[in-house]
Amino acid sequence: MPASAVRIVEVGPRDGLQNIKEPITTATKVELIQRLERTGLRTIELTSIVSPRAIPQLSDCQDVLSGQSVKRLQADPDRRFPVLVPNLKGLDIAIRYGVREVAVFVSATEGFSRANINCSVGEGIQRARCVAEKAAQYGIAVRGYVSCIFADPYDGPTEPSAVLHAARALLGMGCYEVSLGDTLGVGTPSKVHSLVTYLVENDIPIDQLAGHFHDTYGQGASNVWQAYQCGMRVFDSSVSGLGGCPFAPGAKGNVATEDLVYMFDNAGVETGVDLSRLVETGTWISETLSRKNASRAQKEIYHVYRTYSGVDHP
Ligand code: HMG
Ligand code: MG
Repeated sequence: MPASAVRIVEVGPRDGLQNIKEPITTATKVELIQRLERTGLRTIELTSIVSPRAIPQLSDCQDVLSGQSVKRLQADPDRRFPVLVPNLKGLDIAIRYGVREVAVFVSATEGFSRANINCSVGEGIQRARCVAEKAAQYGIAVRGYVSCIFADPYDGPTEPSAVLHAARALLGMGCYEVSLGDTLGVGTPSKVHSLVTYLVENDIPIDQLAGHFHDTYGQGASNVWQAYQCGMRVFDSSVSGLGGCPFAPGAKGNVATEDLVYMFDNAGVETGVDLSRLVETGTWISETLSRKNASRAQKEIYHVYRTYSGVDHP
């Protein structure tokens, strides 16, 4: 991959769906994963194995993972299909289904940690460490998330040193990459610049960082561009801007994958993703779930395509 290229981590099937109250069939979830894979995305987070009381929408995670088509996808050595797990119970289930990568998640802040995983930051790090150690024994790759990098819904603004502490702990336990989660979507490019600069100055390698920006204030794509200018090359996003967490009230979806691919395509930055297929997938999932498509690029591309081609779908 050229030094200027980016890897997009599609979190639609997990972050995108986890906060939707209406039932979504397992077949729709599996079809979403398959369609996303056909766009060229090289990393797709498949689901989460968490308490079904915490996240009822993903309580069919084992059905998603047991399907032959999802098993076949995971056999591709050139792609990553992480599954979010909060504890050893989640990891043990992932092992049973032959999952090759898991994602562990900790919060930089106490309030969100309690609400999200029912323990302190320190206990959350310890749990993640147990998962990472056992995963290593099974040859399973581990990705890490730090949530609430700029603010916590219960505690207010986050100290950068708290993000540093969590990121160091995740890398120290063997995560190959740490995704910086702006869970509330309150980040702006200047905040991104300050935090990323601070982390790098404190010896966190930029090539082990990823950006995970929720788009509450419409800053998601700008935040990604700013982080890209700081040298970051991995970004999480969700098709049609789906996303949110039941324990982060008021936060909007992830930055839309379509918007990132549109932005990077126009900058000559390689993503490996076919934008028209992606727009088609975003249109399909929005229609299937009867939800407004939050991608701004999608609207324009879809409109232009219909105007000039006279057909309905790109
Ligand atoms: P707890 O209640 O303290 O744990 O929850 P527990 O061990 O007492 O278990 C409670 C029940 O859950 C038990 O079932 C367990 O068996 C079951 P019961 O006996 O009551 O029937 N359980 C599980 N079931 C399936 N899979 C598991 C599992 N573990 C326990 N792995 C716990 C603690 C961590 C389990 C819970 O709080 C939880 O599952 N939290 C997950 C919440 C979540 O998924 N949040 C969204 C993802 S994080 C996010 O969105 C942020 C991110 O996108 C980045 C960003 O935006 O910043 C990543
Ligand atoms: Mg998120």
